[in-house]
Amino acid sequence: MIPYSFSDVQVLVLAAGQGTRMRSAKPKVLHELLGKSMLEHVLITLESLNVAGISIVTGHGSSQVQASINMHHQVGWVLQAEQLGTGHAVQQGELSCADAEHVLIVCGDTPLLRSETLAKLLKEHITSSADISLLSAFQDKPHGYGRVVRDEHGSMLHIVEERDADESTRAIQEVSSGIFCVRKSILFDYLKKVDNNNEQAEYYLPSIVSLAANDGCKLQASQMDDADEMLGINDRSQLRQAIKVLQARVVMDWESQGVSIEQAETVRIDVSVHIGTDTLIRSGTQLLGNTHIGDGCDIGPYAVVDRSWVDDDVNIHAFSHVECAHISMRGEVGPYARLRPDAHLDEGVKIGNFVEIKKAVIGEGSKVNHLSYIGDTEIGKNCNIGAGSITCNYDGANKHRTVIGDDVFVGSGTRLIAPVEVGDGATLGAGSIITRDVQKHGLTLSVRSEQRYVKDWKRATKK
Ligand code: UD1
Ligand code: CA
Repeated sequence: MIPYSFSDVQVLVLAAGQGTRMRSAKPKVLHELLGKSMLEHVLITLESLNVAGISIVTGHGSSQVQASINMHHQVGWVLQAEQLGTGHAVQQGELSCADAEHVLIVCGDTPLLRSETLAKLLKEHITSSADISLLSAFQDKPHGYGRVVRDEHGSMLHIVEERDADESTRAIQEVSSGIFCVRKSILFDYLKKVDNNNEQAEYYLPSIVSLAANDGCKLQASQMDDADEMLGINDRSQLRQAIKVLQARVVMDWESQGVSIEQAETVRIDVSVHIGTDTLIRSGTQLLGNTHIGDGCDIGPYAVVDRSWVDDDVNIHAFSHVECAHISMRGEVGPYARLRPDAHLDEGVKIGNFVEIKKAVIGEGSKVNHLSYIGDTEIGKNCNIGAGSITCNYDGANKHRTVIGDDVFVGSGTRLIAPVEVGDGATLGAGSIITRDVQKHGLTLSVRSEQRYVKDWKRATKK
């Protein structure tokens, strides 16, 4: 995607902090935005840059953080056993930067960063032969960020954390994203000189700026065009804001690829979802995980489709819940249907209201239209399963299978006591309890109790 190569840049991702402000048992960087953790978002962005290597500094919950990162991400791990500040965190990564010319430092809690923005920072850093380059932005509400202090010529002097800033410094709207690219030959020397004389008694990475400025090093701050990209997530309300920004990006991206999204602010579409052209996603719908939606589909309103495959021209009507299921072409589901894991619908299948399907294959053109439970079942082609029919698959200890052939008509209210097989072309009389295998064709029904008429019966009346 990005035609640059930054083969002499080593990346350090800072992810050792506890994230106290999240008030969570989970390490902060593992909180998710649209189906991926903050840290995964940052890694995916970094991976498209072609850098020499990526190392992640962990500390708080390090084993949990390491376990969360899939094997296909090629990263190194650095331990910061005690979290003494961002400068101290970078120091721990010195060994992993041994072969690098420049070190790019990125915080694990800024998941909205775009790779183009980082590429621009690196390019400017390298072409201008800077010693320290900072990614900064103007924020209307700079609260919580480090402020960039410049001299009268515009040269960067130092970065002051909010807690350490006086009133006039707090009024500065240019803030630090926490992302730096630093020439390695100076980085670790300056870090050794950083002290912790600040409100948090921490060793701050941004403190290298004033040390380097005093020595006449070449410093630059590149301002990013889209200030939302640097949103740092420290608490749950910032997490919500970041999700909102990310969701708007995802929606606009799908719109540009021919997808219509009704009342987009009510919809959730995870970042790993695929949606085909001419599909309409209606209000309140959630598309989760690695869900695939084909072309020409109509989904929702208020449908949830989670980790599922949906072929072309499928309709999923209101309030349906689809989880780990497969719906083939021209399928129709809902309203109010539930497809549970391993529900597999072949082409043109219709699943109607208040029907639950679990671990079952429904053959081409078959219909289960009303109020049924179908579990551990195989149904052939062109069957009609009548209203209220149920596969009784569970005996309290084990699950048993029901197998139904092609062209079977199951009358309403039939109970199939599994294990049981029904031959092709069979008709099951309404209300039957099927306990034994059913022959092909013909009518099979369980013996019905006699119907009586009570002539002189009177309804009770109110006293
Ligand atoms: C930091 C910057 C601030 C900047 C802001 C941008 C410092 C001192 N401040 O503030 O200038 O405007 O980010 O979002 O750098 N971490 C460690 N080890 C530590 C401490 C922190 O790995 O000992 C990690 C955290 O897990 C986090 C990142 O560093 O991912 C930033 O730390 P955080 O505490 O969120 O810093 P901010 O107060 O947001
Ligand atoms: Ca932060």
